Amino acid sequence: MPFYITTPIYYVNAQPHLGHAYTTIAADVLARHMRQRGQDVFFLTGTDEHGEPVADAAHAQGLEPRALADRNAEKFKALAPQLEATNDFFIRTTDEEHMKRVQDVLQRVHDNGYTYKGIYEGWYCPRCADFKVENEILEGNRCPIHEIVLERHQEENWFFRLSAFQKPLEQLFDEQRDFVMPGHHYNEARAFILQGLQDISLSRKRLKWGVTVPWDPDHVFYVWFDALLNYYTALGYARPGEDLTGRFWPATYHLIGKDILKFHTVFWPAMLMAAELPVPEHVFVHGFLLGADGRKMSKSLGNVLDPFEVIEQYGTDALRFYLVRDVAFGSDGSVGMDAVRVRYEAELANEYGNLASRTIAMVQRYRDGVIPAVATDVELARAFEVLPAEVSVVLDRAEPTRALDLIWERVRRLNRYVEERAPWQLARDPEAAGKLDETLASLAEGLRAVSVLLHPYIPASVEKLLLALDAPDVSYARAIFAERGSGLSVQSLEPLFPKRA
Ligand code: MSP
Repeated sequence: MPFYITTPIYYVNAQPHLGHAYTTIAADVLARHMRQRGQDVFFLTGTDEHGEPVADAAHAQGLEPRALADRNAEKFKALAPQLEATNDFFIRTTDEEHMKRVQDVLQRVHDNGYTYKGIYEGWYCPRCADFKVENEILEGNRCPIHEIVLERHQEENWFFRLSAFQKPLEQLFDEQRDFVMPGHHYNEARAFILQGLQDISLSRKRLKWGVTVPWDPDHVFYVWFDALLNYYTALGYARPGEDLTGRFWPATYHLIGKDILKFHTVFWPAMLMAAELPVPEHVFVHGFLLGADGRKMSKSLGNVLDPFEVIEQYGTDALRFYLVRDVAFGSDGSVGMDAVRVRYEAELANEYGNLASRTIAMVQRYRDGVIPAVATDVELARAFEVLPAEVSVVLDRAEPTRALDLIWERVRRLNRYVEERAPWQLARDPEAAGKLDETLASLAEGLRAVSVLLHPYIPASVEKLLLALDAPDVSYARAIFAERGSGLSVQSLEPLFPKRA
């Protein structure tokens, strides 16, 4: 089963921040889980480098757009491995191969009769690279997202006949009710369509920093068309000498933030239809990370939490865990260093890390380091029985927070089991030897099974632990709670989540 997942491509006008890390991490959790299940996965991320926001930011720093793009693209490219993201390719929209394919697809849109030349006049936000319609503009003619004063623009443009897709888009929304998820964003996108679609600008004349319109070289494509097509073009050249399009197109999931809903759920499918290409299966819309002030974290508001600082203090696994656990995927949520510390100490260190250290230490102390190969506790096993299936159903719906909740309930169940069984008391009673065997076998097995499902979230820590349990296999089949203890020898384990100053 092919599974193709993408993040938005990030603007290189600024440096990576936690909002970017959030989508990349969520996509990575899903990609890793699907690989565990043996699916044929392709995970794409990258950078959006053309258009006015980048050109303006470069000029403000006395740089050519290309120089700024090169500098910042490197930072985004470096962020992915720092997050332990397993993307299969990193696309830059300045790649020649991308630009060539953008021209091919949009030439087809033109040849199919979905473009025309006209004059555009409207309120324009240079940061969004988007014209705003009257009902979304804030008081004082300000951008609803950046809160900066909008500019009045009038220019000759090529237009895309979005209005021609009124009916096809309505039909798409009727037939594919999970095209946009979660449901409230489906309703929002559908309402936007039902208001009546107007044609949109496809090119810019003033701007040089973009992909040239092949049939009118005085124009470059409007950056959003160039950018959206990355999801399609990447498959054509990600593997030299191989075209992955047939294998992975259309995408299974585009993950996006709610500010770019209209582009992905209205313009994008229309553009694909105009080029006679299949539309994606799902667009999943997540919420915003909010700063301590309750407003969307953004560089221009100066309320950002730096992902590199979190990684430095607590490690990559902690950042991954914190973001997915604390900000329900699909809703907004506040983030801050204090909350990172609380999750780290209470859950990663005390609940999971301690469970791991205690289990291994008890196997060493009471059974010479060998996990007893006896039958495991049937009642405890029952708590784990449906877990792998539950988790995969929820992750099929792109709900990593919900899946983590289900997994964490079992981590807590294991901690309760330790308290209920009190192995240190059993160890003092020679007649309880059988019960102690069963307890240790069950604990080690529960810890192993739950860790397999945790691997997509906190890969490095789980790998250390599973190595200590001599059971490194993280394939999905191994998430089943076995009927017998493994009989394997354990190794000592450094604390997975050591105390921080
Ligand atoms: N370049 C466009 C996307 C083109 S996709 C064909 C863009 N780039 S962006 O860098 O501004 O934003 C990329 C993503 O980061 C968006 O999904 C946006 O919602 C997300 N985030 C930016 N700030 C965010 C938060 N504070 N919280 C969560 N995600 C946010 O838009």
